[in-house]
Amino acid sequence: MTALSQTALLLELEPVVEKNLERHLAVAKEWFPHEYVPWSEGRTFDGPLGGEAWAESDSTIPDVARTALIVNLLTEDNLPSYHHEIATLFGRDGAWGTWVHRWTAEEGRHGTAIRDYLTVTRAVDPVALERARMTHMSAGYANVHDDEVLHSLAYVSFQELATRISHRNTGRVTGDPACEALLARVAADENLHMVFYRNLLAGAFELAPSQAMRAVADVVADFQMPGNGIDGFARKSVAIALAGIYDLRQHRDDVVAPVLRQWDVFNVTGLDADGEAARDEIAAHLDDLERAASRFEEKRDARAARLAAR
Ligand SMILES: [Fe+2]
Ligand SMILES: [Fe+2]
Repeated sequence: MTALSQTALLLELEPVVEKNLERHLAVAKEWFPHEYVPWSEGRTFDGPLGGEAWAESDSTIPDVARTALIVNLLTEDNLPSYHHEIATLFGRDGAWGTWVHRWTAEEGRHGTAIRDYLTVTRAVDPVALERARMTHMSAGYANVHDDEVLHSLAYVSFQELATRISHRNTGRVTGDPACEALLARVAADENLHMVFYRNLLAGAFELAPSQAMRAVADVVADFQMPGNGIDGFARKSVAIALAGIYDLRQHRDDVVAPVLRQWDVFNVTGLDADGEAARDEIAAHLDDLERAASRFEEKRDARAARLAAR
């Protein structure tokens, strides 16, 4: 069987997009970012309005929660780049275009809501945050597989679930019920996005199983969080992993494995030689992830024991 071109894939998947767009619009609940922000806690800052400058002591949430909130917000902030990626690849017409715009509109709420919360509660240094946003957005974002439809669908299937988990767990570690409620709401959006993309790729598995398998294998092999270009990301992601907000165990067991299970990758039939090879790569990668996750957990436990012994 000859491989379907990018254009053919878009055309063939359009009915699946249409169906899932309808489904999405039926289940997505309207919500309002302003309702999740404790405005009465706010105070005017220094600068033109002559209020009080931010001080370290203003923040009442744990350090690692601040780090995670900053990473999550900067990730959301880069939305124009993500929009550019999917608008270029999926197009702005028909059901694909409707989805691209709707998704962008929903994502636009996330950055707004988190920034409002952080500014009002003085949870993070607003000057450092703004500078980090400028740096991060100025660098832009490009997906490594940005010219391949199925690779991009596979990537966002995992990525939306990863951000869902990261938002939800960040909310928990803040210890602030208001922040937890806000991030749980954002996480619910991310979950619906994951379902949408996962269903599209499920459609691709029916249409072009070997191409879909290849896409999944390539994407799981080099998966990076969308915020990986953030200044100091390596250091920040270690802190985030140590706090159990997003670590290798969660990545393997709560993101990669459940999505693969939904596609039933190990029972897909009709694969050509490359499709079979891709599936073997996925299995090998799951084993590698298992080893790496166990190693990380052992190290984290040893570190916790060391700290407790002090
Ligand atoms: Fe988001
Ligand atoms: Fe999302």
